[in-house]
Amino acid sequence: MKTILSIDPLKNELKKLREQNRSIGFVPTMGFLHEGHLSLVRESKKENDRTVVSIFVNPAQFAPHEDFDSYPRDMKKDSEMLEEMGVDILFCPAAAEIYPGGYATYVEVEKLGNVLCGKSRENHFRGVTTVVLKLFNIVGPTRAYFGRKDAQQAIIIKKMVTDLNLDVVIRTAPIARDVDGLALSSRNVYLSAEERKAALQMPAALQRAKAKIDEGFRDALAVKKMIREELKKNPSIEIDYVEVASLDRLEDAVVINPGNTLVAAAIRVGKTRLIDNFILGEI
Ligand code: PAF
Repeated sequence: MKTILSIDPLKNELKKLREQNRSIGFVPTMGFLHEGHLSLVRESKKENDRTVVSIFVNPAQFAPHEDFDSYPRDMKKDSEMLEEMGVDILFCPAAAEIYPGGYATYVEVEKLGNVLCGKSRENHFRGVTTVVLKLFNIVGPTRAYFGRKDAQQAIIIKKMVTDLNLDVVIRTAPIARDVDGLALSSRNVYLSAEERKAALQMPAALQRAKAKIDEGFRDALAVKKMIREELKKNPSIEIDYVEVASLDRLEDAVVINPGNTLVAAAIRVGKTRLIDNFILGEI
């Protein structure tokens, strides 16, 4: 595995691969890798001649009061894991190269970025789409891989790719979960044992709602209420949102369409913000 720290040497390396007609799979990450990331790497390796992974904790997607400074980082362990998986190139740029002094250009997907997580995380998706577009321009991937835990992120990136006629295929992979059911997230490391127990209420509530829908239940408002009530049973959970929305437009659903629905929740347990969802349909 080659570890490359700046843009020009990476572009040179990738230019050579493109000249040899090699397909390039790209997995953008913020590091502190877990099985969710590794499943994306595995998919990329299956589908492409070469796999590039980036690790960049993107300041533009954190609000000033959020956890940019304390976001978990372990470059040595990440690098060892990726090497072991047979990743070809690891790209770890410095923030000053991605956002040099005077940086002024942002890309924003309207509407989709203002709902769900976008309501409480102002400018978050603008930061995500900006860095992802920059990384796509730098890497020039054939295919890029995103997890469905961040379903809204994947939907927004797909929309950006369509709207801006980008030449990259977006693939998504299912949520990876720990044995207890908690969706894997780099932020899970913040949770105490007590908090983790509380956080498990979220996958449990979503699972119950999914079972109800699988039985034929279609009332979106009742499903939201049911999930909220489950979550409220634990006083250490602060609900950010529970939403039932169309997958394609992320608009509030009234009747659940079993081929086009996202059921998503975000909670805070202590200082940790966690998200989870299930998807009826394809993204
Ligand atoms: O999902 C993430 O880890 C980040 O939002 C991404 C896509 C790497 C952009 O910084």
